[in-house]
Amino acid sequence: MDMTRKLMNILLPPIALIVLLLILPPYLVLKFLGLIKGFTAYSEDVAGKVVLITGASSGIGEQIAYQYARRGARLALVARREDRLRGVASEARKMGSPDVIMIRADVSKVEDCKRFVDEAIRHFGQLDHLVNNAGISCVCLLEEAPNISDLNSVVDTNFWGSVYGTYFAVPYLRKSQGKIIVISSAAGRFQSPGASIYGASKAALISLYESLRIEFGSDIGITIVTPGLVKSEMTSGEFRSKAKIESIPVESTEDCAKAIVDSACRGDRYLVEPSWVGILFLFKLLCPEVLEWCLHWLLSSAPRNLKKAA
Ligand SMILES: NC(=O)c1ccc[n+]([C@@H]2O[C@H](COP(=O)([O-])OP(=O)(O)OC[C@H]3O[C@@H](n4cnc5c(N)ncnc54)[C@H](OP(=O)(O)O)[C@@H]3O)[C@@H](O)[C@H]2O)c1
Ligand SMILES: *[C@@H]1O[C@H](CO)[C@@H](O)[C@H](O)[C@H]1NC(C)=O
Repeated sequence: MDMTRKLMNILLPPIALIVLLLILPPYLVLKFLGLIKGFTAYSEDVAGKVVLITGASSGIGEQIAYQYARRGARLALVARREDRLRGVASEARKMGSPDVIMIRADVSKVEDCKRFVDEAIRHFGQLDHLVNNAGISCVCLLEEAPNISDLNSVVDTNFWGSVYGTYFAVPYLRKSQGKIIVISSAAGRFQSPGASIYGASKAALISLYESLRIEFGSDIGITIVTPGLVKSEMTSGEFRSKAKIESIPVESTEDCAKAIVDSACRGDRYLVEPSWVGILFLFKLLCPEVLEWCLHWLLSSAPRNLKKAA
C-alpha cells in the first residue's frame, strides 16, 4: 500500500503535466474562438418567458425585475416585505411586463420556497429563469459577535435560501432548458476582515453551483455573478462606516442589474461586475500572502471602529 502511494506521488504529477500540455493548446484555441463569437453573440429573447426573482423588493433584485420587464418577460417576485413588492410589481407592469405576480416568502424556510415555486407554476405553467438574489449581509469580526447563533441566519438566507428554491425549481427548469442566475459576491472569492461568515456563505454558493453545473450538464445554464460594491440598502449608511469602505467606489443597482440580465441572456458562466474587481482575484491567486498581510495591517491599524460597530 505504502509502495503504491509513493509510486503515485512520483508518477502522477509528471503524467498529469503531460496530459495538461496536450489538452491546453486545443482548449485555448477553442476558448479564443468562443471569445470572438462572444462579441457577436446571440442573446436569448426573454419576451413572454417566466422569470422568478427572490429578493425583488429592493436593491439589485428590484432592478433585475425592471430589466426583465423591459424585455417583456413575465415575472414572479419573491420577498418578505409585501408592500415593497407591490410597488415593484406595478412599476414592472408599466415597464412592459405582461404579467407579474408577487409572492410573500422567507427564503430561509424550506416550506416557503416550495410554495413560491408551486405558486409560480400554478399561475404561469412554466419557469424559464430562476434568479437567486435574496441575501443579507453581516459585518463583524467573528470573535466580536455578540451571539454566535445569530450568524446562522446569514447562511440560512444566503446559502440555504438559494439551495431550497433551486431544488424545487429544477424539474421545471430542465423542462424549459432554463437558466439559474445566482448572485454570489466578490466577498466569496476575495476574503476580507469583518466579512468572514458573509463571505463564506457566498463562497459556498460558488462551489455549490459549480457542482450543479456538472450535475445538470447542458439542460440548465448557470450564471454565477460576483458583484463588487453596489449601492443598495445593504451597503448604505451604517454598513459603509462599519466596513470602513467609504472611499471605495460603488456601482448603481441599475448598472449592475443591466449587466446581470445581459449576461444571463448571453448564457455566460460567470460575471464579475464591475469587471475591475477581477484584478483583486488575480492578486489573491498570484501573491496571497501579500494581500493577507495588507488586509491584516489595515484592520489592526484601525481595530476600534470595527469592534465598536459589532
Ligand atoms: N450591495 C452590494 O454591494 C452587493 C455586493 C455583492 C453581492 N450582493 C448581493 O446581492 C443580493 C441583493 O442585495 P442588495 O444589495 O440588493 O441588498 P438589499 O437591497 O438589502 O436587497 C436584499 C433583498 O433580499 C430580500 N431578502 C432578504 N432576506 C430575505 C429572506 N429571508 N427571504 C426573502 N427575501 C429576503 C430583501 O427583501 P425583504 O427584506 O423584503 O425580504 C431584499 O429584497 C444579495 O444576495 C447580496 O448579498 C450585494
Ligand atoms: C442567541 O441567538 C439565538 C438565535 O438567534 C437565540 O435563540 C438565543 O436565545 C440567543 N442567545 C442569547 C444569549 O441571547
